[in-house]
Parts: sequence; C-alpha cells; structure tokens
Amino acid sequence: MAHYSRLTTHGSQLVLGIETSCDETAAAVVSGERAILSNLLLSQFSEHKAFGGVVPEIAARSHVRHLDRLIGAAVEQAGIGFQDLDGIAATCGPGLIGGVMVGMMAAKAMAAALKKPFIGVNHLEAHALTPRLTNDVAFPYLLLLVSGGHTQVLAAEGVGRYRLLGGTLDDALGECFDKAGKLMGLPHPGGPQIEKMAERCADGAAALARFPLPRPMAGRHDPVFSFSGLKTAVRTHAERLEGETLAIRDVADLSFALQAAAAETVAERCAKAVDLFKETYGSGHALVVSGGVAANRAIRAALEALAAGHGMAFHAPPVALCGDNAAMVAWAGIERLRLGLTDPLNMPARPRWPLEEERNRQVS
Ligand code: KG4
Ligand code: ZN
Repeated sequence: MAHYSRLTTHGSQLVLGIETSCDETAAAVVSGERAILSNLLLSQFSEHKAFGGVVPEIAARSHVRHLDRLIGAAVEQAGIGFQDLDGIAATCGPGLIGGVMVGMMAAKAMAAALKKPFIGVNHLEAHALTPRLTNDVAFPYLLLLVSGGHTQVLAAEGVGRYRLLGGTLDDALGECFDKAGKLMGLPHPGGPQIEKMAERCADGAAALARFPLPRPMAGRHDPVFSFSGLKTAVRTHAERLEGETLAIRDVADLSFALQAAAAETVAERCAKAVDLFKETYGSGHALVVSGGVAANRAIRAALEALAAGHGMAFHAPPVALCGDNAAMVAWAGIERLRLGLTDPLNMPARPRWPLEEERNRQVS
C-alpha cells in the first residue's frame, strides 16, 4: 500500500468537499491556507440535454455512478492520503434530495470509517463564503447571492450568521435566464448561452429600442426582486417575431436586451441594499457577489460600478468558482471546522434550507 504523508507546505487543516445537490458531481480538497489542492467536477449536461432541464432521478443515479471515483481522484490529485484529511464536508441541502443524499451519505460513511469529523454544509453558505476563499474578504460584507434557485441580498456577519435584507418574490435570476433561453431555443442552462448571444449583438442601442423590457421593482425602497415579469416580456417579444425558429440576430438582440435589463435591475435593487446595510454596519465593508449568475460579466460590471460609487470594495469569485463546485463546499467545511462546528452522523438532508437559519447553528 502506498504511503502518503502530509505536504509540509500545507501544514494547516485539509478538508475534502463533496457537492451533489444538482447536476454536477464534484469533489475537492482545500487547505486552511486557502489552497485548492484539487477541484474536480463532472457535469451531467449530456445526460439531461434531451429533457431541457435537470431530471432529479437521472441526476441522483449519475452521482451514485461517478462519486466514488471522483473522490478518489480528488484525494490523489491533492497529493495526500485519506488519513491526512482533517474533515469531510458535503452539501446537505438545499437541492434535489436524491442527489444530496448520495453525497451526504458518502461523506458520512467516510467520516465514520476514517474517524474524522463530518461537516454538513448548506450549499448557499458554500456560495456565500467563496469570496473568503478567493479574496480573503473580512466580515461583515454585503452579499448578493444569485443562482438558478436563489436571488437574495444578505448581510454576512460571520460563519453561520446571515441576515436577509431582501429576496425574490417569484423567480430567481438564473431561473429567468434559463426559462428565457429555453423559449428562445437556446440549450440549457440558458444563462451562459444568453451571455454568449448578447456578445453577438451588433448594435446594443438598437437592440434596446427594438426590445423594450421592464426593470422589475425599480424605485421600491426595499431591496426585493421579481423576475417572472421579465421572462414573460421576453416571451411576448419572441412570440411576436416571425417563424418557428428565431434568427440568430433576433436571439442576439433579445439576449442583449435581457442581459442589460437584468444587470441594471440588479444594480438598482442592490443600491437599496447598500443603504440598508450601511445603516447597520457603517462604511468600509465590501460588496460581494456569488452563485452561478455571478459569472455574468455585464452583471459583475454593473455591481462593480455600484460598489465604486459607494466607496465599497467589490469582490466576485473567478468564473470557475461562481457555479456549483466542491472547492466551495470544502472551504465552508474548513471555516466551520475551525469554529468547532462539526455535525452528527444523523444530520438530515434538507431539500429546503434557508441561509438565515444557519444563524441557529452558530456557536457563540
Ligand atoms: O450556482 P449554480 O451553478 O447552481 C445553483 O445553485 O442554482 O447556478 C446556476 C445558474 C443557472 O441558472 C445558470 O443559467 C446561471 O447560473 N448562470 C449564468 C451564467 N453562468 C451560469 N447566468 C448568466 N450568465 C452567466 N454567464
Ligand atoms: Zn449553487
């Protein structure tokens, strides 16, 4: 049997992270010194393609098929052995419950066999803490969490301590992009496709005039969001266009108009959140964006401008760490492990798990 010894350069804690809450099977090893020693991700994209969305049963079976091999590869690529790990972290929710169970049970089994601490991670907290892995951002910070399932602004006060300032009344922004993409005939997920198509728009001003779209909730004093009307407006424009399939130019223009409306809306809504945040926490703190939609460059630019206008630093993780990945789960594991926030092996998997409830699990 091969003998492994811990690398001296990574003398701090090492945590294995497992992510299986949606359609990505992922495993990673991260150190307490913020080094990502391995970060493997297997997308199930082709398995769900024919269905135009993620099929929960297919996702869960695929996680079962691939997870063991991926965990082995992540540990091997990190140049360590299983015994070198200080903890095993897995997403325990929110997400598609079949998939969550696969990753969670694998982590619990490993923790039991290796006699290592188990850390049950809230997927949203993993997104929320990513900017601390990549940019070492200090608490408190104003966080915009934008993904396929969530659109929220929160005050991140500490590990396990999040105060919700506003959320969406209906669709998440990623969901709006995905649904709009589908009705324009783009493959799932629509968000990255819409960004690509928007780049092909030849004349932005003309596209905006051609496809006027609402700026939902604009002017409301509290930082709440609503995106279902934006998606409906895209549908109305798309249905007015001639023919079964839209011409590339139409899709490019409509994508540009949608992305512009989304970026402007996010910035306008977040401006309200900045005011609210400053009332409680004062100046000198950062604005941070995370979650899959944070990969969008127009949205990042709009938020960066907003932060600059308010004298706030702005941080967004590198694109590869915006969407679902296991490095963020491992990092959340590190943060919790440091505070002694480990979990019992009978911790349940949770399809719904609001981030604000994390507060209840904090040790004071
Ligand atoms: O965080 P994530 O990978 O999974 C969830 O936890 O939901 O986010 C996925 C979402 C999808 O809705 C996808 O369309 C969106 O993020 N997304 C984007 C971009 N890349 C991913 N939306 C807009 N522009 C992008 N470049
Ligand atoms: Zn996510």
